Amino acid sequence: MSDADIAVVGLAVMGRNLAFNMAEKGFRVALYNRSQERTDEAMALAGPLADRLVPCRTPEELVAAVRKPRAILLMVQAGTAVDETIARLQPLLEKGDALIDAGNANFHDTVRREGALDKAGLAFLGVGVSGGEEGARHGPSIMVGGKPEVYGRVDKIFTAIAAKFEGTPCCALLGTDGAGHFVKTIHNGIEYADMQMIGEVYGLMRRGLGLTPTEIGDVFERWSKGPLSSYLVDITATVLKTTDPKTGKPLVDVIVDSAGQKGTGRWSAIEALALGAPASSITAAVEARGVSAERALRKTLSERFPGAAQKLTLAGNREAAIELLEKALLAGKILAYTEGFAIMSAASREYGWKLPLAEVARIWRAGCIIRSTLLDRIASAYDETQDLETLVLAPGLTPLFEGAAGALTEVVAEAFRHGHAVPALSAATSRWLALRQPRSTADLTQGQRDFFGAHGFGRIDAEGQHHGPWSQAQ
Ligand code: ATR
Repeated sequence: MSDADIAVVGLAVMGRNLAFNMAEKGFRVALYNRSQERTDEAMALAGPLADRLVPCRTPEELVAAVRKPRAILLMVQAGTAVDETIARLQPLLEKGDALIDAGNANFHDTVRREGALDKAGLAFLGVGVSGGEEGARHGPSIMVGGKPEVYGRVDKIFTAIAAKFEGTPCCALLGTDGAGHFVKTIHNGIEYADMQMIGEVYGLMRRGLGLTPTEIGDVFERWSKGPLSSYLVDITATVLKTTDPKTGKPLVDVIVDSAGQKGTGRWSAIEALALGAPASSITAAVEARGVSAERALRKTLSERFPGAAQKLTLAGNREAAIELLEKALLAGKILAYTEGFAIMSAASREYGWKLPLAEVARIWRAGCIIRSTLLDRIASAYDETQDLETLVLAPGLTPLFEGAAGALTEVVAEAFRHGHAVPALSAATSRWLALRQPRSTADLTQGQRDFFGAHGFGRIDAEGQHHGPWSQAQ
């Protein structure tokens, strides 16, 4: 019977939970997975939702199960699996059917896929979904890219399953073709920076102040009630206060200190570089994951150069030090978000997306991994001034940042003095300090460039390009 409202292809954790979420909201969902076991597993886990699920054994069965014009959501591994799945389905589809890639695609692939499918008369949406397993099941943040008329065919389903912030669905069409996947990429880039900064502050409390994981968990729990209130700070408290059932030690101490990554952080940095928009703290966070993976080298160097990471003298006493660290993390976080939004702004100009940045902040307020109270302020900032030059100058953020920026510089300086690595916090600090100086050192750079390459330089007291009297100087 061709009566399913939508199909979901790819039934690993995210796909299965999205399908369950849709079924729970009353939609009829056709299911297909390359290996049948996952389809069987999904049906076995569905409970009463099974009534609204239509398990299919082949792509042909799947296509036959969905109402026309069809909407087929793909949640397969990002990359070639998406192209292979599209190639398998395409001959079975009819003009006007829509494919929706909800995986973590590189937005360049999304642009390419939309163009190719458009030529074949098929519609396409590139959709970023954030919130992990729990979000997919009970309400993710959904970032859509594509044509409005295509989105209009599935918006009821998407808004129904999306997270709600005070009743408003965290789902929006953000622009054409790759806009949704681009925004999801930058979301993940900010997530990398946010997590890395939290990790650095944890490291300072642990090795610099000598606090135990449980004590630090308590600190994060306290912070989660203040301006740092966010999902990531919440889960940090929980992770730190969890005991390993096997050894009785803090769980964090038995976890291998080498971070994984799937590519979205790196893409954020690469795209930012290509756009000429700095991604200092995001890049530092990506690199820090790389350094964490170099465990053998870190062991060798720590033995050859012992004595790093001394106790901090930060602020004289523990409570004052913790207060300083809270402010430093807040300032770092504001700078990371400022960076992320500036990258989106640059991409919006470059790709003609007209990204609604207030809307982006709004749909990140619930459901997604970086949800935080700060995003509410950011949404208001862009609501007030759409072409805001930098978030740091938003009236709702400036006082918060002003009260914390000094702490960030102090913490970074103190961390370096005592041998602690704080790559993301220090990258954000350097960029901030460079931005707030009225005169940079690029006067010298321009002099050097003119010296060796006759590239010319502007003068502060005359129009046009000029050259130095270098032959006289030699
Ligand atoms: P996980 O999320 O568990 O790490 P994954 O390897 O990323 O899983 O795969 C996610 C989904 O993409 C799965 O549904 C997987 O199908 P299988 O269960 O058959 O492995 C699907 N997938 C991966 N590569 C695929 C391909 N080339 N064609 C179709 N589906 C594919």
